[in-house]
Amino acid sequence: MPAVSLSSANHQPAQNFAVRPFSAAVGAEIIGLDLSQPLNDADFARVHQAHLDYNVVVFRDQRITPQQQIDFSCRFGVLQIHVLKQFLLANHPEVFIISNIVENGQPIGLGDAGKFWHSDLSYKEFPSLGSMLLAQELPEEGGDTLFASQQLAYETLPVELRQAIEGKRAAHSYTARYADEVFKGIRRPTLTEAQLAEVKAVVHPVVRTHPETGRKGLFVNENFTTHILDIPEDESRQILAELYSHSAKPEFIYRHQWQPNDMVFWDNRALIHLATGCPSHLRRRMHRTTIQGDVPF
Ligand code: SIN
Repeated sequence: MPAVSLSSANHQPAQNFAVRPFSAAVGAEIIGLDLSQPLNDADFARVHQAHLDYNVVVFRDQRITPQQQIDFSCRFGVLQIHVLKQFLLANHPEVFIISNIVENGQPIGLGDAGKFWHSDLSYKEFPSLGSMLLAQELPEEGGDTLFASQQLAYETLPVELRQAIEGKRAAHSYTARYADEVFKGIRRPTLTEAQLAEVKAVVHPVVRTHPETGRKGLFVNENFTTHILDIPEDESRQILAELYSHSAKPEFIYRHQWQPNDMVFWDNRALIHLATGCPSHLRRRMHRTTIQGDVPF
């Protein structure tokens, strides 16, 4: 179980907020909650439950500082520091900058984050429980984020495919596609030896059980999964291709169209997500905190 924490803020008055589910497969918005104030334990428990029930929660109208984002994120567990240190917010290394903005010839954040479907940090021994992404600067056009339920994907898998992945494990690597990206000319920083040592390949089950709800879901993604272990390479490629095509079916997806001051909190144990991108002349800047989860089982 994750280290969801009750806090010393329990004396705080209750806030009057509503949780409104979207009509998509996953997702709900939370209206009327002010995350610049510490949440008392009852309010926190409602938010935690909404996250488990809907997998994506959208906190509207959050005018919060980086430290307030960090403090709230810490209520759910330990925060993970991204390997690309050059894109960590100054004085707040827990905040990872995702942006297409280039200043003085240097990108201020990771520009192509989320270009392929993925679950954050699935390449770590302890992949992420969930991520919080706070809008700082939004483009007038594009920049949506898609979320796909991997639990629905698993539950609707054709029987033969489900049997083919029963008990199987797959390798995940941060750097596998990295080389690919460089090859395609997309600008990505070169990793130092120390950074490479932080992102050694790991192995996780192809189907994971959610540690809090017990629901099963697919846990492979086109960004970081390289192959399924103990089967021939061509068979692994074929199975992964079938899983990827099934896992992003429209009926499993919520499309988030960002509004100013949205903060979106998603469950990386239950979803994959994709950044759809925006025209390159428009500016987009987001702050992400990433909460560490359990070793998948
Ligand atoms: C991410 O993959 O964490 C970034 C998603 C986005 O920028 O929309």
